[in-house]
Amino acid sequence: MTLVDTTASTVGGPGLPQERRLVTEIPGPRSREIHARKQAAVANGVGVTLPVYITAAGGGVVVDADGNSLIDLGSGIAVTTVGNSAPEVAAAVTAQVNAFTHTCFTITGYEGYVEVAEALNRLTPGDHAKRSALFNSGAEAVENAIKVARSYTGKQAVVAFDHAYHGRTNLTMALTAKSMPYKSGFGPFAPEVYRAPLSYPLRDGGLTGAEAAKIAITQIEKQIGAANLAAIIIEPILGEGGFIVPAEGFLPALVAWANANDVVFIADEVQSGFGRTGDMFASEHEGIVPDLVVTAKGIAGGLPLSAITGRAEIMDAPHAGGLGGTYTGNPLACAAALAAIELYEQGDLLARARRIEEIIREKFAAAADPRIAEVRGRGAMMAIELVDPATGEPDAGLTSRVAAAAHADGVVLLTCGTYGNVVRFLPSLAISDELLGEGLDVVIAALARA
Ligand SMILES: Cc1ncc(COP(=O)(O)O)c(C=O)c1O
Repeated sequence: MTLVDTTASTVGGPGLPQERRLVTEIPGPRSREIHARKQAAVANGVGVTLPVYITAAGGGVVVDADGNSLIDLGSGIAVTTVGNSAPEVAAAVTAQVNAFTHTCFTITGYEGYVEVAEALNRLTPGDHAKRSALFNSGAEAVENAIKVARSYTGKQAVVAFDHAYHGRTNLTMALTAKSMPYKSGFGPFAPEVYRAPLSYPLRDGGLTGAEAAKIAITQIEKQIGAANLAAIIIEPILGEGGFIVPAEGFLPALVAWANANDVVFIADEVQSGFGRTGDMFASEHEGIVPDLVVTAKGIAGGLPLSAITGRAEIMDAPHAGGLGGTYTGNPLACAAALAAIELYEQGDLLARARRIEEIIREKFAAAADPRIAEVRGRGAMMAIELVDPATGEPDAGLTSRVAAAAHADGVVLLTCGTYGNVVRFLPSLAISDELLGEGLDVVIAALARA
């Protein structure tokens, strides 16, 4: 089986052309009408980045209620990596929905859940004995990873890093760094969560990975103490915090220290996992072997599924009944995951992600805009950080204007970063070179105008 043919008309359902096509202003009248109803019916806290309302999607496009076809450079935040409505995923889910939709795995099981666990145990870094447990969202899986680490070590403290994002539930809000919009007004937060400094090569004065790790480890030892620390959790490439790639050597030093100190090392690969970075998991780039790996997003081609996978002795620490939930490892999501995993394993998706990185780097190198302080990331998880070139200060205003202009020109574009000055690119691996190139040209033109 290969990656969906991005030139074929079957991508994302029969007859969805892979093109940017604007037939109204963005958002168009039908989307504006639905958006007005959204404002009246949906809680204000549920914000919308680009208020177009989607009726079909596939390959590298989303089609809205007015018939506009937009180039999708966000993949629903790194979820539809194998394509939106990928035919193999759609077929697997259709077969499953006709067989049964739910039993609750912890009441009566089904093979699909076990198969997903087996696949995760096989695919995640390291060849030690592993176990997996399935959940619904990334945040839920992160919470459970912390539960497992505490149960195994008998310790309570957890370290997360500057710029981290781990979710919006109470414990994951505590782990997340940025206040607005994720935490502000929602405290008190879970106790025994501590923050350590990250390696951020553009902004930490060019510390090496080893130097940055030494600073972080010293702080952890002095302010918490390994004797109290259950787990370190980190995104191997930080997502919402700004697609920050820690300097080479930072992650391996943290893993070595955690291993030597009975501290569980948790890699949050919710955004960076499943082929996104050109490796199956971003941890593989430096050869680190996390004790626990948290996955979600790209795992199931758009259906809600998340997981934790890790060393058997750690994962088996909680008592039976301690992990689970009504919908965890839902059969439809498991069927979707097995189809998506087959695409990751049998297609050339990792090479595709690396090719996407080349295209993005070439485009921005050619643009040579002094306001781009850095082009960074790996594979199909890339970003540009925008600054005032005179001072090097983050330019969030410019970033919002670029995103707004790209939206108006028919490109779904996401921003991120602690300072709000990072434009991120998370295209589906099913996007064609031409469509990706056109989307990037729109962004570069928006930057030139902004
Ligand atoms: C690294 C990381 N961890 C956790 C989460 C939370 O996942 P979810 O939104 O599925 O709860 C996200 C979501 O963006 C993420 O990027």
